[in-house]
Amino acid sequence: MTTTSGTFDVARIREDFPLLKQTVNGKPLVYLDNAATSQKPQSMIDALVRYYTTENSNVHRGVHTLSQLATDDYEAARTKVRKFINAAEDHELIYVRGTTEGINLVAQTFGRQNIGQGDEIIISTMEHHSNIVPWQILCEEKGAQLKVVPINDSGELLIDEYEKLLSPRTKLVSIVHQSNALGTINPMEAIIEMAHSRGVPVLVDGAQSIPHMTIDVQKMGCDFFVFSGHKLFGPTGIGILYGKAEYLNAMPPYQAGGEMIRSVSFEKTTYNVLPHKFEAGTPNIAGAIGLGAAIDYLNDLGMERINTYEKELLDYGTDCLSRIEGLKIIGTAKEKGGILSFVLGDIHPHDIGTILDTQGIAIRTGHHCAQPVMQRFGIPATARASLAFYNTKAEIDSLVEGIDRVLEVFS
Ligand code: ALA
Repeated sequence: MTTTSGTFDVARIREDFPLLKQTVNGKPLVYLDNAATSQKPQSMIDALVRYYTTENSNVHRGVHTLSQLATDDYEAARTKVRKFINAAEDHELIYVRGTTEGINLVAQTFGRQNIGQGDEIIISTMEHHSNIVPWQILCEEKGAQLKVVPINDSGELLIDEYEKLLSPRTKLVSIVHQSNALGTINPMEAIIEMAHSRGVPVLVDGAQSIPHMTIDVQKMGCDFFVFSGHKLFGPTGIGILYGKAEYLNAMPPYQAGGEMIRSVSFEKTTYNVLPHKFEAGTPNIAGAIGLGAAIDYLNDLGMERINTYEKELLDYGTDCLSRIEGLKIIGTAKEKGGILSFVLGDIHPHDIGTILDTQGIAIRTGHHCAQPVMQRFGIPATARASLAFYNTKAEIDSLVEGIDRVLEVFS
């Protein structure tokens, strides 16, 4: 299977991903669950093994050689992240466990400090639960209100409605860049511009966008940007909260313990500078180094080339699935990433997923941690194929054959 798009040689790229060579249920694996988590290049796996084999030590704590090596690599990874998203300063990048922790950190620090009785937070209908529930908890605690931007039948944000929701009571806008359930890519620059013109800061949930496109947080203008390492071909348990230094400096600590302090006495504790103020306890050192290695890998491939190839794959997949009788794609925004969420007549998505699995095809089924999206479309669940740059048109063909098999079973 040699699929080449320009110089984007997918057959060669697939060689870098050991897991993709497996068979599952006796069939070659067709991995189409990339929005849940991505597969890992060998160079990323090697970086983890190298760290644990030759350098394992705690960071920022020891004068000994290994501790210094570990600290250097941990901080070098932060610099790689800064360059990857074009942040202004390394200390604007906080290591967290993932997108969920990043959003909770902002809710519990910035939120608690700045949002009070009668204030409003704007989110959208297409948010993942991790960009809904932390704000609900905060609103409940503070007597604030959540305002929700509606979407149209294609799954696009209604920007006019968003503008109407912005009010003098709005204290934060928190919106997803690319929807995990629909694939919609939101016009973040316009959304941020409208909020900023009223003095309102914006958090962007970048979990689903960053694996597929170039991110430039300064150009975008966001105040916070969060993402997970494991969706970016890195390890689980590591993620990034980017925040503008002016906000991070003003925010109180999130968790307390070692590393986040400057001095401790029983009378008074003072806090460390950024980024350490938000990194209490021994961090996920290997995870950070692995994330750096994943970024190196992506830089070698080039995010623009990845984006171009994935668009071609999405167009092909959309075309193929649209031809299947009884199949309805949920999420048909004009600006869309590689998500193919669908329903198939009255066949339950879990049955679709289970039958596809017998053919070695991995997709996700269910509400995708976005129940309000399902409610908006009046469905309990969808089947979702989600793409990455190592997927091929031949794999889309396998998906189509798999869906034909599902139809046969239910005919
Ligand atoms: N948020 C991830 C997904 O959409 C887990 O599958």
